[in-house]
Amino acid sequence: LLLLVGVSLQGRCIAQGGGGGGLTRGSFPQGFVFGTAAAAYQVRGVFRLLVVVVISISPIFIDYEGAVKVDGRGQTIWDTFAHTFGMYTQFWFTQTHDSSYQSGKISDFSNADVAVDQYHRFQEDVQLMANMGMDAYRFSIAWSRILPNGTGQVNQAGIDHYNKVINALLSKGIQPYVTLYHWDLPQALEDSNDFAAYAETCFKAFGDRVKHWITINEPHTVAVQGYDAGLHAPGRCSVLLHLYCKSGNSGTEPYVVAHNFILAHATVSDIYRRKYKATQNGQLGIAFDVIWYEPMTNSTIDIEATKRAQEFQLGWFADPFFFGDYPATMRKRVAERLPRFTADEAALVKGALDFVGINHYTTFYTRHNDTNIIGRLLNDTLADTGTISLPFDKNGKPIGDRANSIWLYIVPGGMRKLMNYVKERYNSPPVYITENGMDDSNNPFTSIQDALKDSKRIKYHNDYLTNLDASIKEDGCDVRGYFAWSLLDNWEWAAGYTSRFGLYFVDYKDNLKRYPKNSVQWFKSLLSSS
Ligand code: NOJ
Repeated sequence: LLLLVGVSLQGRCIAQGGGGGGLTRGSFPQGFVFGTAAAAYQVRGVFRLLVVVVISISPIFIDYEGAVKVDGRGQTIWDTFAHTFGMYTQFWFTQTHDSSYQSGKISDFSNADVAVDQYHRFQEDVQLMANMGMDAYRFSIAWSRILPNGTGQVNQAGIDHYNKVINALLSKGIQPYVTLYHWDLPQALEDSNDFAAYAETCFKAFGDRVKHWITINEPHTVAVQGYDAGLHAPGRCSVLLHLYCKSGNSGTEPYVVAHNFILAHATVSDIYRRKYKATQNGQLGIAFDVIWYEPMTNSTIDIEATKRAQEFQLGWFADPFFFGDYPATMRKRVAERLPRFTADEAALVKGALDFVGINHYTTFYTRHNDTNIIGRLLNDTLADTGTISLPFDKNGKPIGDRANSIWLYIVPGGMRKLMNYVKERYNSPPVYITENGMDDSNNPFTSIQDALKDSKRIKYHNDYLTNLDASIKEDGCDVRGYFAWSLLDNWEWAAGYTSRFGLYFVDYKDNLKRYPKNSVQWFKSLLSSS
């Protein structure tokens, strides 16, 4: 949790967006793309509701085998993780597909075997997007549906499924923006050559119609939460950090994982440009997760810390693509634990992004911190930054209104500042906002009628979009599109079903029925205005 919250924090002087009135589709440049976004693992599955009370009494790992295998899908690291006893020891109500196991890595002990069943209901969901007037859908392909073991034999049923999804979208005039890797790594592997083979299988099968590929979703989150904090699959961290993680080395693993992601994208981009670009003419980017950071005080030391926090977040992953190496601050602070690019690798990586995808939700305050004794002992990534970032100022005042997730505070002005940062640091690359949105809690006592009112979400999107629009029109940032996270409420990783990010409410108690929240009407009006 510390790392979840502790990644960063920032600033008060953020301009609030325009609020009501003024925002129309015509305010955005011609061709600007509006869509919603989702990930295969969060929306797949079949559904059955059970209410189970569980106590996880020990940190024993019990990996449940034999998770969902519809149409030949293989096991992934998130199946294993979500079916593992772990750190949550509270009494909790949970919804689970099968009462024969209960997991403990997920806060409500759920798993995504169920999710919202988009696998079977995609036609209905595509119609929901069309009703809103959306131009695009960002979704991810489940690697384990295409190559059940991660490599080797292609599963034709998986190819057929995504062909149906892509064709359903195109038949409604909705462009597919496809993420190749949104965290559900086939359990069997973790190697960039395998990723290249998977990517090529997708280019061959879908590249005639898919023109925007997001190779990797949020590599920073995977490196830090999966290999440092242990809160995401595969759940590795230093054993000293908490008793429930798989033993790893926080001091080196996140950096090695990050390095491999960067090389994996560069390898795939090189293959695409050599073999497919001429005929398919698509573009490849990564969806980077970026918090905006504001200094907690005006002191030079905190201002420097704030710059560092951003270099350890966006710079870590984006600098190699623009400058051929990690930020100098990282080289200095992480020293020999930070991998090096050979000259050939640096040349492969530099220039390998056609666009910058940004998943942006929130802003934190940052201050200098070199008293993180345990972190320094473990060499963890947060201690390496020498900062602490929080959603409160030094008097404990929150930076903005909180959504549901403990890390999600609403600070619309962060969007504009971030766009300007990207423009200045990387010399105006084309940007897509690949995710932006907020969640409500899944409160069993809230009626559906109340959940549909949704005024906070409408204001969120209005204010963030107003700031995005200003960054384009007033500051000259090259932003090409915006994807709201998410079309539907879905399974929020370690938070399970406790969080609802959807524009559509999903009734988990009644056959996963979808109900439009008022934000659907808001987007519909925006997208039909001129
Ligand atoms: C980050 C991830 O890409 C997505 O999978 C997640 O559900 C949202 N943002 C909200 O946390």
